Amino acid sequence: MKKIQVDIKDALTGSLAGSLETLRPEGLSGLAKLTDGSGEGADFLGWVKLPSETSADLLDDINATAAALREKCDVVVAIGIGGSYLGAKAVIEALSNSFAAYEPAKTRVLFAGQNIGEDYLAELKDYLADKQFGIIVISKSGTTTEPAIAFRVLREQLEQQVGRKEAAARIVAVTDAKRGALRTLADTEGYKTYVIADNVGGRFSVLTPVGLLPIAVAGFDIKALVAGAAEMEAATLTGADSDALNYAITRNALYRDGKKIEILVNFNPKLHFVGEWWKQLYGESEGKDHKGIFPAAVDDTTDLHSMGQWIQDGERSIFETVLSVKTTDRELRIPRDESDLDGLNYIAGKRVDEVNKMAELRTRIAHVDGGVPNILVTLDDVKEDTLGQLIYFFEAACGISGYMLGVNPFNQPGVEAYKKNMFALLEKPGYEEATAAIRAKLK
Ligand code: PA5
Repeated sequence: MKKIQVDIKDALTGSLAGSLETLRPEGLSGLAKLTDGSGEGADFLGWVKLPSETSADLLDDINATAAALREKCDVVVAIGIGGSYLGAKAVIEALSNSFAAYEPAKTRVLFAGQNIGEDYLAELKDYLADKQFGIIVISKSGTTTEPAIAFRVLREQLEQQVGRKEAAARIVAVTDAKRGALRTLADTEGYKTYVIADNVGGRFSVLTPVGLLPIAVAGFDIKALVAGAAEMEAATLTGADSDALNYAITRNALYRDGKKIEILVNFNPKLHFVGEWWKQLYGESEGKDHKGIFPAAVDDTTDLHSMGQWIQDGERSIFETVLSVKTTDRELRIPRDESDLDGLNYIAGKRVDEVNKMAELRTRIAHVDGGVPNILVTLDDVKEDTLGQLIYFFEAACGISGYMLGVNPFNQPGVEAYKKNMFALLEKPGYEEATAAIRAKLK
């Protein structure tokens, strides 16, 4: 069942009213490149049919590994950065109780290797000191500096706490089939491993073991997640009027009309990291050749008290895509108070979500009236299948949109340059020439 709806009526107005039809051939050509591999970056299209082609055996195996980790561990640390981090973080945060830390019966999934914060890592070590913990280390290249540092530090601690043999039973590596330091280490130590296919780039890998294993460890239903994505895959690849196609066309029409910044807005704090995942997906895919919509994200109503001013009144170079969730899991009404000193009795008895929805509606109207085009993406709920649909919707639209923009949506030369510069600056063996070049520049 389709659980997300996309409404662009407040985005393509005035001179852009006919864009959906005029730009449709370009959009369809982008879609065709995803399915026939005739566009740039065709080596990285493994995600396109991934949901429908994911085997039940793989999902069962991931669930079994997750169950084994849950059996042994109170905490599992997922180590990774960028595409090897954000998808799992987004789904787990969206589905978790906001105060999951206070649910001692559950295995907590924590994250490391997504920064090089010394205090962060030291505090995590302290936290883990009296815990039964395990590690999922995720790196496609197997050489990225941030996760490699975190893994070395936490692996040492785990081996000290439970011994090398037991540590090996609590470490799972998700990496390339053959290449990279992590692959060598995993094979040497005998860790359980999962492979990230060569043809799936990091930011498109949430529906591979990269995302699925941490999500399963956190106790969520990865079969429903993948099934939701498979439904959206079918609707997108067979439809000439799909939501993904229309979203891709709409954002390109707006970009060509001078709207250079897209703000993804949520009115549900659990979706904060969906915004972070989306920023990586679109930022890394489209920001190339001095082109691309700048992806930003805000959490409302929180950010209405900060960024709201800019959005309402700043430069008119923005458009918004609002993630609106129809239903909440819980029901909470605002109590009546006899003294009414806070003056809130006028909304006593109303659901908190009713007030939130009014804020959402009012904000959308005010922003549209203020010259901010609005794309509305409505989610029926925040459950695994809906999130699966949303993930595939954004991935497919990103591929189509990147091709419409005229870039290769599937490389990330800027990120690779950062990684190489890090190796050079840290004087990694093999990077001597680059080190000398950087030193000369810094003089
Ligand atoms: O999307 C990407 O390719 C990047 O964000 C990578 O996911 C990120 O740099 C981590 O790379 P790796 O998984 O090789 O450690």
